[in-house]
Amino acid sequence: MISIKNVSKAYQQGKQSLPALHDINITIPEGEIFGIIGRSGAGKSTLVRCINLLERPDQGRIIVNHTDLTQLNAKALRLARRQIGKIFQHFNLLESRNVFDNIALPLELVGTTRKAIVQTLTPLIELVGLHNKERYYPHQLSGGQKQRVAIARALAAKPKVLLCDEATSALDPETTQNILNLLQDINRHFKLTIVLVTHEMEVLKAICQRAAVLDHGQCVEQGPVLDLFTNPRQEVTRRLTQSTLNVSLPESITSQLRQDAAGSKALIVKLTFVGESTKRPVISDIHDRFQVTTSILQADLQTISDAPFGVTICQLGGTQKAIEQALAYLQQQQINTQVLGYV
Ligand SMILES: Nc1ncnc2c1ncn2[C@@H]1O[C@H](COP(=O)(O)OP(=O)(O)O)[C@@H](O)[C@H]1O
Ligand SMILES: [Mg+2]
Repeated sequence: MISIKNVSKAYQQGKQSLPALHDINITIPEGEIFGIIGRSGAGKSTLVRCINLLERPDQGRIIVNHTDLTQLNAKALRLARRQIGKIFQHFNLLESRNVFDNIALPLELVGTTRKAIVQTLTPLIELVGLHNKERYYPHQLSGGQKQRVAIARALAAKPKVLLCDEATSALDPETTQNILNLLQDINRHFKLTIVLVTHEMEVLKAICQRAAVLDHGQCVEQGPVLDLFTNPRQEVTRRLTQSTLNVSLPESITSQLRQDAAGSKALIVKLTFVGESTKRPVISDIHDRFQVTTSILQADLQTISDAPFGVTICQLGGTQKAIEQALAYLQQQQINTQVLGYV
């Protein structure tokens, strides 16, 4: 488990103190893939650098598997850091070393024998899918292969935690998916806790169970990824997560939209379905029960943390009373309803 407690950090620039993190409290359960999201400059990279104390917090504690890293002396900290691997956006491989020797580097640095290195690395290279590529040099590899080398290098010292800072941001969507699958495999295989910083919501949806949202150096929201998408409590979370949903009203309708029901013929409503509620035939239900007609204007169905999740924007027609009853019925069926206006 990783516990970030009351962590604050400011950068000193000349006489100026530039605050980057303010009183961050985040708990990351062991064995989980935990996301950290936020806009550019929110403090995400600073926070991951604080987790392995590459950057020392001005205040607060970083507890990794019951050890408070901020209390350790230099030698103990060096040992503790071996429990924490890290991968970056730009791979950081040594161009002069081939794949095998890049991956071997952390073990060489702690004096591991060549025989023990070969023993450790052989299954690891197989696991990340780089067998036959051991003798290649970084310039002979694709971006995805380079990130596989970086992942294997991070895993060579058998860490308990893997920090990933925008690890897929330089990769195309298909390669991103392959790397995410690999991260998921190693999370399960080694029971590794993974902290994944990303500005890509697709990455968050694909493999994170829970996540924290940073904004202007503060942690403004944290919880299950599904909640961040379906029920965001902060505006910044809403903006980040809703940007990946392919639902917005066409201009022809927004231009006619009124907030006043008087004299309107129909209601425009956004319906959000999660899990079981995606399976219910509610559109036909509200017609049968209340004679309310539905035209679907926009719809998007996705999978988040293995749960189906759908957003639909509909136009509901009928008497005002019938529409009110239909909305109450939808809410009863665990469907989130947000009235956007009237036409
Ligand atoms: N080494 C540094 N010196 C001074 N300011 C920095 C340094 N690193 C980051 N910052 C500032 O701290 C804030 C948070 O940066 P960062 O953690 O890199 O955010 P993110 O990773 O979310 O984009 C930004 O305002 C950035 O300009
Ligand atoms: Mg960053």
